[in-house]
Amino acid sequence: MIEIVILFFTVIAVIQGSYSCAQTNGIFKNDDDFRSYYVCTNYCDRIEYCTETTEYYSSLERTCKTDGFLWIPAYSLTGVQEVTPTVQYRHFQQSNYDLYWSSETKNHQFTFTGRYINETQVVGTEIILSLKNKCILVRDVQLTVKGTKSFCTTNIENRYSMKCELPPNYAFSGCINY
Ligand SMILES: *[C@@H]1O[C@H](CO)[C@@H](O)[C@H](O)[C@H]1NC(C)=O
Repeated sequence: MIEIVILFFTVIAVIQGSYSCAQTNGIFKNDDDFRSYYVCTNYCDRIEYCTETTEYYSSLERTCKTDGFLWIPAYSLTGVQEVTPTVQYRHFQQSNYDLYWSSETKNHQFTFTGRYINETQVVGTEIILSLKNKCILVRDVQLTVKGTKSFCTTNIENRYSMKCELPPNYAFSGCINY
């Protein structure tokens, strides 16, 4: 019975263990997401997030902090994208580790708020307000930044979103340059 329990936990550890602990115990940075860090206990890793949403883990100081990091976003996305066919301008604003955009058509308002999680990856939420039927769509967005004003993106409906149709011609996935 004990063997089965040990086997069970070993299987769980193997499935969940995305990081291989180099030392028995300690705290290590997570290159994929600087909001979090790995805690190793007896070679078992556990991911922990900084408590404040404005913090990142500093591997130098081995603590969560709000500024003074050794990394910055690799490229700037600040600029204006002309979206066709319903001509619309999407205004991107990047400031420190934050990314915003907004745009408007006759019937819809779009706003995005996101945050860099490492040099090239942004996660955030887009809100699409339908002015006609007062419906609010919430989309979870991920961006991989490829260069200045260049990125690839995926977006999916947030599970708490109201259910309404996406705006006509809403195409906001794949790669975008402007
Ligand atoms: C940033 O994170 C993504 C996944 O979250 C990862 O694929 C990528 O390699 C990371 N980039 C860097 C520069 O560490």
